[in-house]
Amino acid sequence: MSGSGPGGTAGMDESVAHNARVWNYWLGGKDYYAVDRAVGDHVTSVYPAIREVARADRAFLGRAVRYLAGEAGVRQFLDIGTGLPTADNTHEIAQRVAPESRIVYVDNDPLVLTHARALLTSSPEGATDYLHADVRDPDAILRAAAETLDFTRPVAIMMLGVLNFVPDTGRARSAVRRLLDAVPSGSHLAVTHPTLELGGEANAEAMRFWNENATPPITARTRDEVARFFGGTELLEPGIVSCALWRPDPGTGAPAEVAQFGAVGRKP
Ligand SMILES: C[S@@+](CC[C@H](N)C(=O)[O-])C[C@H]1O[C@@H](n2cnc3c(N)ncnc32)[C@H](O)[C@@H]1O
Repeated sequence: MSGSGPGGTAGMDESVAHNARVWNYWLGGKDYYAVDRAVGDHVTSVYPAIREVARADRAFLGRAVRYLAGEAGVRQFLDIGTGLPTADNTHEIAQRVAPESRIVYVDNDPLVLTHARALLTSSPEGATDYLHADVRDPDAILRAAAETLDFTRPVAIMMLGVLNFVPDTGRARSAVRRLLDAVPSGSHLAVTHPTLELGGEANAEAMRFWNENATPPITARTRDEVARFFGGTELLEPGIVSCALWRPDPGTGAPAEVAQFGAVGRKP
């Protein structure tokens, strides 16, 4: 819709910028309203690196899913905080490696729900499903995801850029814990999370502006706080780093650090 409003989205809130839509704007997508572009542009003027953060986060998704479906042999993915469909969604990356991969997407944004059809284009050998649900309600997610995923076999829990929208750290941690408790040995947790330890004052100012003008409110976390999400897992090399520096593709040159941690842990 190129900022003129997505078609067929009656009841959508066009008066307040929403994260899923602004993220889509920063990624060069078409699914955002004028208010999303205005807030997105202001954030970019305060903190120009934000577009690089969004791109590096998506690139991390690609590398992490390729590793998980490839070397780690995982065939099931629970992608919470999916975002609006874009190029190379989780199922497309995973099913390129292993067509039988099964993927359940979860988001609580109404616009993502209206675009979910684009996420349901599974290979014939695999499966995809979409749940309109809140990360703060892991039991509801697990119940509904069990229709597509077999929780006796390893699952990769993808939580990219979403725990930062759960302001209560204890609640975020217990949601992750509940999900990890529900999956067997050999399952993985992948997280990206913004941090002021890498972002500095301009990033802090952009987040303050976001929290006064957009929804849902965002919370940055320290490396130690992000590390605690991985309790009970073994962090894969190189640990918790800027997501741009997590196993960069060979031959792509030295990547520039962005203010978003990325890490993958394995449940032993
Ligand atoms: C920054 S985007 C990240 C999208 C995608 N995971 C990526 O890395 O490109 C965060 C997504 O989380 C979703 N989200 C925010 N709060 C949520 C919640 N409480 N429950 C489920 N999804 C949520 C937003 O709607 C948005 O689509």
